[in-house]
Amino acid sequence: MKFNVLTYGCQMNVHDSDWLIRAMESRGWKAVEESEANIFILNTCSVRDKPEQKVYNVLRRLGYLCTSPGDFVAVGGCVAQQIGEGFLERFPYVRLVFGSDGIVQAPQYLEELAVDHEKRLVLNDFLAQYPEREGGLANPNEELLPPGIGTIPGQAFVNIMQGCDNFCAYCIVPYTRGRQKSRLSSAIIDECRALVKSGVREITLLGQNVNSFGMDKNGSDLSFAQLLYKIAEIEGLERVRFTTSHPKDIAPEVIKAFGELPNLCPHLHLPVQSGSDNILKKMGRKYDRARYLGIVEGLKEVCPEIALTTDIIVGFPGETDEDFEQTMDIMERVRFESSFSFKYSDRPGVAALKMMPKVPEDVAQKRLTRLQERQKHITRECLEELDGNDMIVLLERNSKWQEDGGVAWRGKDPGGRVVNIFIEGIEGHLPLGGKLVKAKIIEAKNHSLVGVKVGDLW
Ligand code: 5AD
Ligand code: SF4
Repeated sequence: MKFNVLTYGCQMNVHDSDWLIRAMESRGWKAVEESEANIFILNTCSVRDKPEQKVYNVLRRLGYLCTSPGDFVAVGGCVAQQIGEGFLERFPYVRLVFGSDGIVQAPQYLEELAVDHEKRLVLNDFLAQYPEREGGLANPNEELLPPGIGTIPGQAFVNIMQGCDNFCAYCIVPYTRGRQKSRLSSAIIDECRALVKSGVREITLLGQNVNSFGMDKNGSDLSFAQLLYKIAEIEGLERVRFTTSHPKDIAPEVIKAFGELPNLCPHLHLPVQSGSDNILKKMGRKYDRARYLGIVEGLKEVCPEIALTTDIIVGFPGETDEDFEQTMDIMERVRFESSFSFKYSDRPGVAALKMMPKVPEDVAQKRLTRLQERQKHITRECLEELDGNDMIVLLERNSKWQEDGGVAWRGKDPGGRVVNIFIEGIEGHLPLGGKLVKAKIIEAKNHSLVGVKVGDLW
């Protein structure tokens, strides 16, 4: 069967789609361009804006591509969890809906639906335990692909937990992804070991709130800090990262790890959401600006070069000019290297829906523009400070910029920054993705760095 996967949303969704592609390919299906596909898998996100509308628009478009009786669409992810049956009722060519936990069974049902053209179903039940996924990759006719290998050579994402128990006032995630479920630490460590053995050099541990790993009732024998130390000591693993972290749960041992573990990358994405105590309280974030700044100080003490990035919401209900100034102020104090910033958007069922007064759209937009403008300058200044430094870059793919006499490669430094490096005397087709190289930074651009190779590739 020829299939195409379209993904919206966060890293978790990207990773889910990646797993699904591999699971189907190991069953003999072929991932192809949309125009060649018979089966379309749409992985959706509902965290902001009007995602439902966007999904309906995409579904209408895919409807025109379902021309034979065997062609159909499967809708997965957070909007699927929210709308469920509704998709089957509105769109005759949607024949499978699967939510956060249902994805584990999706490969098996996709195969059944490809044969039985009458069948339609919804897989939206939440499971009590973390749903393990290895089963989807077993294929007696082919080499077993290690689970979780990303599309970037040498890098992999490993899920350590699913769901969230925090119920921040603006957030739909606890409703769409369900309660927090930690995965067994032994399964995580085994997966990481297998990945490193197969050539992976950088692992990113994934979860909605990785710092509360093991704190749910499915609890694990290890804390997140203990898990991190165990993974970092896997021989041959060059880099470890993790995302996302909630400031209220980050343990002193995790902060300490940034000073102790040589392969823990000096980068932390630590969503602050707001710099105002008043708004943080209304958001139900359970930390204040003093605590957040204390964490930042602790991190910079043990790891002065750490790159901090964040998420910020402007225009949360009741946000005053003074509250917003506090957010601008925390940006100056922390000097985030980059940030994702959003206007607050009402989501169904969340506590903030009923909070008043709502901030007018034009006020929220003005605040967002000002914040993003300031961020642009800080990002630029942070990158300029790195000019002249040597850093190790993990190569990913050919960069867009090319010249004669060699090939430019794009990779990432340990801080997670994009570095473009021109490597003289090599051919474009050489498989350098996944290789490490020492580079000297010679220029800072708005969002990336330019380097030259100063050491051997390994
Ligand atoms: N409105 C705006 N931004 C939101 N986020 C989550 N929910 C909302 C919402 N209702 C943002 C938060 C979160 C990121 C993934 O999306 O900043 O960290
Ligand atoms: Fe949403 Fe808060 Fe959970 Fe993050 S920690 S997923 S913002 S509820």
